[in-house]
Amino acid sequence: MKINKKYIVLGSVALAVMSLLASCDKLDPNSPGVEYMPDMYRSPSYETNAYTTFLGDSVQTNRMPVKGTIARGYMPYTLTNDSTGYGLAGRTLRDPLPFTADIVEQGKTIYGKFCIHCHGATGQGDGLVALKLPGPPPPYNGSLKDLPEGQIFHSITYGKNFMGSHASQISVEDRWKLVRYVQTLQGKTIPSASDTTAAKVVVKPAKAVNAKKKSK
Ligand code: HEC
Repeated sequence: MKINKKYIVLGSVALAVMSLLASCDKLDPNSPGVEYMPDMYRSPSYETNAYTTFLGDSVQTNRMPVKGTIARGYMPYTLTNDSTGYGLAGRTLRDPLPFTADIVEQGKTIYGKFCIHCHGATGQGDGLVALKLPGPPPPYNGSLKDLPEGQIFHSITYGKNFMGSHASQISVEDRWKLVRYVQTLQGKTIPSASDTTAAKVVVKPAKAVNAKKKSK
């Protein structure tokens, strides 16, 4: 096959020009030379925590969340860490989780990780760490027997005297599970299925049948 000389010459010239352009910049030894497709080497999108003047007022590309932003799945606890908040917790807060064997069992597992070393396996306040405390926790089924569920939650959230706050380690849902387990240690019995609050609410028979059907 005969190759046209013209193309060979043109091709060589093009290669020479490209290699000249691509070679190092004599003025700046760090310069990468001509970049044919800079978008492919350097993404035009902003990097997190990178510098930008685009927004004018800040150097960071990532912006602060709008004031009052609430993280997904997080409900702020608004009661204050004082006697007013404690009182309100006792009067107004109710465990949103049902008092069932399953929830109690889950609460027990969390208790075994976060509470047992102070409060003891049976909630007598005789955990190994409690023995070192100047004031061990009172037994749940003693002076804490009638502590309302809201106050149990409040004290787990903020802590009390020698007991630290557990808000950062244990999610709100898990704290309510703990409340259910602590209630059993207080001596409360898990209501049987026919004895739940829902069953106590007077509902018209027809509705109750519907509810049963739905839960299937
Ligand atoms: C470092 C030891 C320690 C750990 C860990 C601990 N507690 Fe306590 N807890 C105490 C002490 C001490 C008290 C008594 C506080 C007081 O009234 O002075 C107490 C009190 C309580 C009370 C009664 C609060 C009130 O309002 O009177 C509850 C309920 C309770 N703890 C639950 C828990 C649960 C649930 C956990 C696990 C998440 C836990 N505690 C972890 C030491 C601890």
